[in-house]
Order: sequence, then C-alpha cells, then structure tokens
Amino acid sequence: MTHRVLVTGGAGFIGSALVAQLLEAGDHVLTFDKLTYAGHRANLGAWISHPNHRFVQGDVAEREQVIAAIEEFRPTRIMHLAAESHVDRSIAAADDFIRTNILGTYVMLQVAAAHYDRLEGAERDDFRFLHVSTDEVFGSLAPGAYFREDVQYQPNSPYSASKAASDHLARAWRHTYGLPVVVSNCSNNYGPRQFPEKLIPLMILNAAEGKPLPVYGDGGQVRDWLYVEDHARALTAIADKGRPGEVYCVGGECERTNMEVVHTLCALLDASLPASAHRPHAGLIRHVTDRPGHDRRYAMDIAKIKAELGWAPRESFETGLAKTVEWYLAHHDWRAQVLADAAARLPETQHRRTDGSMFEKRGSL
Ligand SMILES: NC(=O)c1ccc[n+]([C@@H]2O[C@H](COP(=O)([O-])OP(=O)(O)OC[C@H]3O[C@@H](n4cnc5c(N)ncnc54)[C@H](O)[C@@H]3O)[C@@H](O)[C@H]2O)c1
Repeated sequence: MTHRVLVTGGAGFIGSALVAQLLEAGDHVLTFDKLTYAGHRANLGAWISHPNHRFVQGDVAEREQVIAAIEEFRPTRIMHLAAESHVDRSIAAADDFIRTNILGTYVMLQVAAAHYDRLEGAERDDFRFLHVSTDEVFGSLAPGAYFREDVQYQPNSPYSASKAASDHLARAWRHTYGLPVVVSNCSNNYGPRQFPEKLIPLMILNAAEGKPLPVYGDGGQVRDWLYVEDHARALTAIADKGRPGEVYCVGGECERTNMEVVHTLCALLDASLPASAHRPHAGLIRHVTDRPGHDRRYAMDIAKIKAELGWAPRESFETGLAKTVEWYLAHHDWRAQVLADAAARLPETQHRRTDGSMFEKRGSL
C-alpha cells in the first residue's frame, strides 16, 4: 500500500534519506522544510524532481504555511523530522530550538488533528503521525544500563529538553485528541549528507584537509551509532506497523567512545588517502574543553522494535563507516555547496560556539 507522506525536515540529513526510500517504494512525498543552515535541496539530489515528489519551503512553526501544505497535499501520513538538531548550537542560543522543536511540533500536531478529523474510511484508519525524536531525552546512563521505552525522561541540554517537550506534546495529542501518534527515540545517526558540524563528518573533512580534530574532554563519551539508512527503514516500519500511542526505541546496538570513533575514522582515512601528507591522521587529534553538561553515555535496548515490528539494523559500524568516509571524500562539491549556503543563511551571532570561538575556526562552520 502506498501513501501520500508529508515529511517535515525532508531536506536534512535523516529526512533526505527517508524521502529517497519513500519515493523508491512508490509513495507520493511532500517535503516541507524551512531550509535552515542544516537543510539543503542538494541533499535530495535527483529525487527533488521525481514525479511523485513535491517540495515546499515552509516553517513548521508558521500555522498558515502548515495549513496550506496539508490542505493542498492531503497527506495520509505525516513524518515529523523538522528540528534544530545540534546540541552545541542549543547551548549557545536556544531560541530556535524552543521555537521549532516545541512550538513547531505543537503547530504540526494541531493542524494534523484538524486534518485527521476530516478523514474518512481507510484513509482515516491508516493515518499516522510519526514524531521523530532522540535518545538524548533520557539523559545520561551509568555503565551497564540501557534506555528503554519506559525509562524516565531526564533531558540535560537545551536541545534534548526541547525534544522532550515535543515528545510530551505528541503523547498528549494522542491521549487527549485521539490523533494516531507514534513516537520514535533514536540513537546517534551517521552516514552521507550529515551537516559537517557533527562529530563524524567534521572529523572526516578536517582530517582530509590536515586540520585539527577537536575531541571534547577525554573523548570517553559513549554513543550508540546507527547508519542513517537503517534509521529511515525503522521510521517506515514504525509508521506502517507501530501501534498508535506507542513509543519505539531505535538504535544500532553499537556502543563506541568518541575516541574509538575518531581513531577508526583516522585509520580508514590513512587507508583511503595513502599519499596524504597528513598521515597518520590520528596525529591531528586535539583534546579541547568539554561541552558543558556533556552526557557521558547513551545506549539503547531495541528489543521492542525487533520483536514487534521485525526491524533490526543491517549495516555494521565497520561497513557503514567505510561507506561514509568514501562518500565524504567523493563529494567535495556537496560540502562546498552546503557550507556556502549555510554561511549565507546564518546570522553572524549564530556562528559562535559556547567557548566563544567561531564555528568556522574549527573547520565546520
Ligand atoms: N542526527 C541524529 O543523530 C538524530 C538521532 C535521533 C533523532 N534525530 C532527530 O531526527 C530529526 C532529523 O534530524 P537530522 O539529523 O536529520 O537533522 P538536520 O539538522 O540534518 O535536519 C533538520 C531539518 O529540519 C529543517 N528545519 C529546521 N527548522 C525547521 C522549521 N522551523 N520548519 C521546517 N523545517 C525546519 C532543516 O532545514 C533541516 O532540513 C530531528 O527531529 C532530530 O531531533 C536525529
């Protein structure tokens, strides 16, 4: 069965991978995206002009824009990914996080509920609102513990607090208004087209250019890594088969410290760039002052989604990371384009990191 899917944030890292999978599967897709510094038409590649795809530049926090898109497209499914997503930026200035992640989710839920009320028959029975969230809402874990669907929320950063608020709104719209909402909380993603301010693309691109590799604190922070294509498949599985009102934890069962990730990347780059003057790339690693309030460990128990929906990650960290390195090395044009777009879109004040340095100085923005 195919759907008319409204994907918010579809020009971002995960959204673009999802849009490609949906179009490949025969769905009609409307990408609704504000095109902030993190969202780019280039992320959608040739999919942007696919006959079953439409693109609307719009803001989820602007009610009239959301109403116009939903009334015109009449989605049978909404997959809500639009968000401000970078923890460092949320620490430097949280305004956009509060507006997009909280107010934007509220607007999406409210307009979706009015739309749902007008649906009938099979379209109403099948309608789903998938709210896409993060494991960071659960806080930081002690060794040996795991996040599950029923653990207590303990968000520690402005980013995770804004996502936690949006999760609660999604839950309330199910409970109070009967909107068929499903929520996913996923661990750290990696793969092609991630904006080069996040750990993995930042390290690959800096290392390739011989720039320092800034590692927060001792680099012992543990994250559970999932390849972006696996996350996109999980989102479709949750929208297809997840039970309204339920939450699904998604992860890669792949815990690595940041130092392990950076050393693995350096080894892959040493092999891919045998003539590079910057080998061994691990020599570029520099420890820098830790992020304030930095969570120490995240790890997911994914037993529920495996058992209920039959989803499991397909990509191993080794193969996924090797593919990711090759993709960034082969796509200089993409990098130049997104960095130029982002520099033009961001006001000067938003280039600043919490330590007062400019994002550009660390080679990312
Ligand atoms: N990246 C991860 O590791 C990860 C892990 C778990 C969950 N998530 C969640 O998945 C979603 C997507 O994350 P991502 O990594 O692809 O983020 P991203 O920053 O790459 O993309 C976000 C997209 O949302 C768009 N956007 C931002 N504000 C908007 C607004 N007001 N209106 C419309 N569009 C807007 C941006 O232009 C961009 O295209 C987010 O909700 C994030 O919280 C991300």
